[in-house]
Amino acid sequence: MGVRDRSIDRPLGSGQPCVVKQRRPRRSRLAATGVVIGTVAWLCMLPCLPAWGGASSRPRGVVATVHPLATEAALNAMKKGGNAVDAAVAAALTLGVVDGQNSGLGGGCFMLLGLADGRCLALDGRETAPAAATRDMFVRGGQADPRLSQRGPLAVGIPGSLAVYQYAVAHYGRLRLKDLLLPAARLAARGFVIDERYAARLREVADDLRLFPASAAILLHADGAPLQAGEVLRQPDLARTYRTIARRGIQWFYQGEFAHAAEAALRSRGGLVGAEDFARYRIKFREPVRTTYRGYEIVGFSPPSSGGVHVAQILNILEHFDLKAMGAGSADFVHVVTEAMKLAFADRAHWLGDPDFTPVPRGLVSKEYAAPLAGRIRLEHASAVPQHGEPPRAVTDTFGGPGAGRHTTHFSTADAAGNWVACTATVNTSFGSKFVVPGTGVFLNNQMDDFAIQPGVPNFFGLVGSDANAVAPGKRPLSSMSPTIVLKDGRPILALGAAGGPTIISQVVLTLLYTIDFGLDLPAALAAPRFHHQWKPDQLQIEQQAGEALVRALEARGHKVVTVESLGVTQAVALGPGGRGLTGAADPRVHGSARSW
Ligand code: DON
Repeated sequence: MGVRDRSIDRPLGSGQPCVVKQRRPRRSRLAATGVVIGTVAWLCMLPCLPAWGGASSRPRGVVATVHPLATEAALNAMKKGGNAVDAAVAAALTLGVVDGQNSGLGGGCFMLLGLADGRCLALDGRETAPAAATRDMFVRGGQADPRLSQRGPLAVGIPGSLAVYQYAVAHYGRLRLKDLLLPAARLAARGFVIDERYAARLREVADDLRLFPASAAILLHADGAPLQAGEVLRQPDLARTYRTIARRGIQWFYQGEFAHAAEAALRSRGGLVGAEDFARYRIKFREPVRTTYRGYEIVGFSPPSSGGVHVAQILNILEHFDLKAMGAGSADFVHVVTEAMKLAFADRAHWLGDPDFTPVPRGLVSKEYAAPLAGRIRLEHASAVPQHGEPPRAVTDTFGGPGAGRHTTHFSTADAAGNWVACTATVNTSFGSKFVVPGTGVFLNNQMDDFAIQPGVPNFFGLVGSDANAVAPGKRPLSSMSPTIVLKDGRPILALGAAGGPTIISQVVLTLLYTIDFGLDLPAALAAPRFHHQWKPDQLQIEQQAGEALVRALEARGHKVVTVESLGVTQAVALGPGGRGLTGAADPRVHGSARSW
């Protein structure tokens, strides 16, 4: 059997038709009075199609990532004859070199494709729990120990990113995986200058890295001090790994020496992952989640992502409110959106998990379910949400049924032929488990922490879960990653997604509201104030740029408000103004890069 056959579980809903230069952003400030985000932004409004800024006149492609070198690699792939899929994979592989704290071969991803032939496909490269995993594997003396799910060998799930990249390029790209691996290998060998953001992350995790000598040897000086901004990070082991995969294919990773080296290293430190787990790994085709919002079709990623379900659910609830009349800067707007987030996240904690292991009701994304939820929202005050709701046909109509920030990264690409990619990839928290497979340069994820390691015990992001997201062998932990494609008249017009744990869902919702309801262009939408509520803990996080007055107004309605300096990292690409050309934007909160060619 060929590699392709071995790396994929065949489709649920695959092949469904779709019918359905980074600018300095304008910083805007929400006012408590209900005044809009910015006068200039309002001037961009068009009655139906959002207006985006910064499109080049006839670009052949556009890319938005968190790192200029990754964006450049993606554009280079297009210049060599590649399409948006090749560009996305070039970006992904380069991010694994220059932004390894967020993503890499040791992690997982969700890739959503809107192809020129009209299909929308969702490739699931989420990590799986090893065969030896047990429900209580993180419980010691009756109490879950999150250190075990967040750091070191037990935290590691079987990585899926590489299998998705290989499959995507082989089936929908024009180049070979090797054409994309080799430039990234050269960059790993030559090195790159680390910036302050990377250096700050290293300082944060240096103590954990010191626990694993092979990891420390890559990222810390011999005296244990982390590399500093301005220093060059060279990764010869990672370069060799990329070159070996280029030469020998992904079998080397999943069925060959890499898998055996991972087993030996992990098991020697108490891990459960074996080479067999790598050999057994399959990517999955998922059925994209679809809903409509004010005349647009929103296509998202289905479970084990919670993103597509809850972005859709929140939008379905919000469609019952005239947000535009409220104004993007109003307390009414923030309040109503927050209330919708609370209802959705309460459902997330109860219903969501890997659909191959637990029934996840499709009713969660139905308009029929959203209507009564919207009816529960009171404008005057924050409501208590004691528990999850009861979506229709919860047992009989489920996903995958019959037939069926800071430490993550999102990149989007599109090409003139009409291929669009929204891909979110992660090793979970910074440098994942902090555990590198010695001699390979590959840091392994700590995605096991995205399981509910014990009922009621919050994970790194403060999320709680139920049985639906309990650990089980071969199961995929629930994710918030929300790659999303928006269609108008059956054609993609926008591809977006974010990093930042559960705030990803809120960021994607807000970007859609700022663009669709308020007509902001992409840079303005990405710069606009963000807020997030995940039901538990009962707190509304809001960026401080929103302003004191708004915070007071929200507190007066009963919200427990916490101001934060910055919330998440979003990237997006879109059609240009009037539906012509392509444009993109990277989050102004980090030094990303969006460019067209
Ligand atoms: O899949 C998830 O939801 C998380 N593992 C994503 C982690 C993330 O976004 C980290 N960034 N803050």
